[in-house]
Amino acid sequence: MADFEPNITAFVCTWCTYAGADLAGTSRMKYPANVRLIRVPCTGRIDALFILKAFENGADAVLVSGCHPGDCHYTSGNLHARRRWTVFSELLDFVGIDSGRVTFSWISAAEGRKFADLITEVTAKVRALGPFDSYRKMSAAAGEQSNAR
Ligand code: FES
Repeated sequence: MADFEPNITAFVCTWCTYAGADLAGTSRMKYPANVRLIRVPCTGRIDALFILKAFENGADAVLVSGCHPGDCHYTSGNLHARRRWTVFSELLDFVGIDSGRVTFSWISAAEGRKFADLITEVTAKVRALGPFDSYRKMSAAAGEQSNAR
């Protein structure tokens, strides 16, 4: 566990959080290299299945981040995402996912420091939680059962 380095998958809006991550990089702000960014046009595009697939494929935590309320380039995509997240978070326990492994945030293109701090914070939290092997094992077992039918 001491050597555990979490894999964090981040679904980020191209207009705000991705630009904020870019700002953090070009400003040479330091943050853990545990995050893989997946750029989407808007957080409204993020389906709950994206998050489940990320966990199936090795993520120990998932971050969803986009424009602040009122700043979405598609008017209300981030508000739809927030509503979807409220429902989805209630389903996480049902499928065996600790909701502490999914983080939702708003980060603008000007908030490079906030991006770096969030990645640092999420990485520390997931290091403490440990690897998320239990969900991968459970979904692999479910896949084997459905293949056997
Ligand atoms: Fe950024 Fe919609 S365009 S969340």
